[in-house]
Amino acid sequence: MFSKLAVAAFVLPFFVQSVAAQACARNYTVQDGDYCDSISAAQNVSTYQLATVNAGVFNSDCTNLQPGTTICLGYEGQDCSTTYVVQAQDTCDLITNSYNINSTLLYGNNPQINSDCTNIYVGEVLCVAGTIAAPPAGSATVNTAIPSTATAAASATPTDGDDEDLPYCDEL
Ligand SMILES: *[C@@H]1O[C@H](CO)[C@@H](O)[C@H](O)[C@H]1NC(C)=O
Ligand SMILES: *[C@@H]1O[C@H](CO)[C@@H](O)[C@H](O)[C@H]1NC(C)=O
Ligand SMILES: *[C@@H]1O[C@H](CO)[C@@H](O)[C@H](O)[C@H]1NC(C)=O
Repeated sequence: MFSKLAVAAFVLPFFVQSVAAQACARNYTVQDGDYCDSISAAQNVSTYQLATVNAGVFNSDCTNLQPGTTICLGYEGQDCSTTYVVQAQDTCDLITNSYNINSTLLYGNNPQINSDCTNIYVGEVLCVAGTIAAPPAGSATVNTAIPSTATAAASATPTDGDDEDLPYCDEL
């Protein structure tokens, strides 16, 4: 186990295969119209975890999902299913307060969040578990690019009933 991990650290770009060898806790069959964050929101899997488990599978805007493909949502023992979908005007403090977790947990489970928490976006799915439940950072080559159509939570206006399009909702 130790030697596998040590080797993996030196072959990060090719670690996808080793990761894929881990037992999948949850499978999901891609449906027509799915995109990464819609799957995350509906299946209670964080944006980070979905990207990590499927490193090398999705392109940066997640436009290459093929309906009928089976993907893994989480590995056994590293599967966070306590999730929250970021809303307009959210901040990390609001989220940690409402789930009664500290920022160590929020950052540990969602390592893509920057230190000022300025890069969370509306529709992003965060793991808000009360333990470190997500796959560790650096265990795979993860595409943590923010979708090009995303709206930062801080700059988004709260939905007020007008027909505001959610970002990153383009169907396939
Ligand atoms: C997920 O799919 C793989 C490949 O078909 C299968 O081996 C595995 O048992 C499935 N796992 C679960 C939890 O359904
Ligand atoms: C996702 O979590 C919510 C809230 O805990 C729950 O009601 C829902 O059934 C879960 N959905 C799935 C697919 O696990
Ligand atoms: C954050 O919460 C976890 C779980 O309750 C705890 O183990 C950890 O010590 C806390 N960290 C800090 C910096 O308070």
